[in-house]
Amino acid sequence: MTKLGSNESRDCFTSKFGIICAAAGSAIGLGNIWRFPYVAGESGGGAFLLIYFGFILLLGIPVMMSEFIIGRRGQRNALGSFKQLAPGKPWYLVGVMGIIAAFMILAFYSTIAGWTIHYVIQSFANSFAGKGPGEIAEFFASFQKQTFLPVMWQLIFMAMTVWIIISGVKKGIEKYAKVLMPFLVLMLIIMAVRSVTLEGSKDGLLFLFKPDFSAVDSSVLLAALGQAFFSLSIGMGALITYGSYIQKHNNLGNISVEVSLADTIIAILAGVAIFPAVFAFGLDPDEGFGLIFTVLPNIFQQMPGGYFFSIIFFILLTIAALTSSISILEVVVAYLTEELKLKRRKATIMAGIAAGFVGIFCTLSFGLLKDVTLGNFNIFGILDFTASNLLLPLGGLLIVIFVGWYMKKSDVKDEVSNKATIKMRLFDLVMFILKFIAPVAIAIVLFDSLGVI
Ligand code: PHE
Repeated sequence: MTKLGSNESRDCFTSKFGIICAAAGSAIGLGNIWRFPYVAGESGGGAFLLIYFGFILLLGIPVMMSEFIIGRRGQRNALGSFKQLAPGKPWYLVGVMGIIAAFMILAFYSTIAGWTIHYVIQSFANSFAGKGPGEIAEFFASFQKQTFLPVMWQLIFMAMTVWIIISGVKKGIEKYAKVLMPFLVLMLIIMAVRSVTLEGSKDGLLFLFKPDFSAVDSSVLLAALGQAFFSLSIGMGALITYGSYIQKHNNLGNISVEVSLADTIIAILAGVAIFPAVFAFGLDPDEGFGLIFTVLPNIFQQMPGGYFFSIIFFILLTIAALTSSISILEVVVAYLTEELKLKRRKATIMAGIAAGFVGIFCTLSFGLLKDVTLGNFNIFGILDFTASNLLLPLGGLLIVIFVGWYMKKSDVKDEVSNKATIKMRLFDLVMFILKFIAPVAIAIVLFDSLGVI
């Protein structure tokens, strides 16, 4: 992001490509490669996938567009934009909720990113060499339980995120990311090919692509909704914040569709890389948070050049996680600097320390604190469920209501059509979705699974 003459006070993305990279950088991350497979695995596979697609198309894209609309029109952070567009009204509370969600997500995200960094080092050390699926699972289980090592990696990841935000190299990171992410896609394709050519992999493809609706209940619907929101980075204002940096002539509808499409393709690729291998190695798709960490090393073992593949893959995954975590931290930092007038450096360090502190509890919830539970959830699970499955959908619900019902239709039209400079043939359909379909669908899934209706 660079300063722009026409928009003196704010940073701005200078090209459409720059926005796509930043927004896609936010969307594509651990959500696609770590979270999607584990949630799909727990939710029964095929039917979940179909529902997930439906939610991306019908709810995800409209919410993403709404966030861009609010951000670009409000020209402020997630909370400030609401204050700007609805002065004196309680709508800014949506921003408050987003900031709380950002904190929680950053905390548990850094746990998983920490595991990823550990796997970079272990790949270098060739620690998985000669290990079978059982031993790899044991290796992961014993690592996860430790105290010092996972916390250290988690804090290192958090420090990297903080450093990127304050040192102003964010622009640089995005430049790297746009060169590196195609490699991540290429690697996923190669891994997917290896995975589907393993003996006994067919059941994995059936699991992922053959819908079995008999197992679908309200909790599967909620899991798909939460996953769609988490993966697209929507519902907490990350894209309101990024939207405020988008220039007036960029087409918000197109950007939303392109970013969502890229995000979804990568999730599917991750699924095709993981599930055939899960079945081929006799592992359990329902394994939970650790799924990719017990499956992937097995795939690399079966690949020529697997040693290098493994190193490169986990490095790229760490970078993908960083381009997401900076967008999460940015939500908090943009709020602290613009609304509370803190210096950027101070705001970033404070937010990083606070989220890092909460993150320690998430990390330890697999070992030292594993007995601290609520129902089936450990601390990590509580934060993941609350933020992803409750706060993001609730945020998304309020965001579409804001754009569909509170904002003036002419303002919305102005924003999506760039003051009628681009043709919007589908505008009425988009408005209909924003006003009726999206809010009703999100509300039904959310409140039904909570037993409210
Ligand atoms: N979408 C990111 C991922 O898939 C995570 C994220 C969630 C980022 C919410 C911003 C907001 O990894």
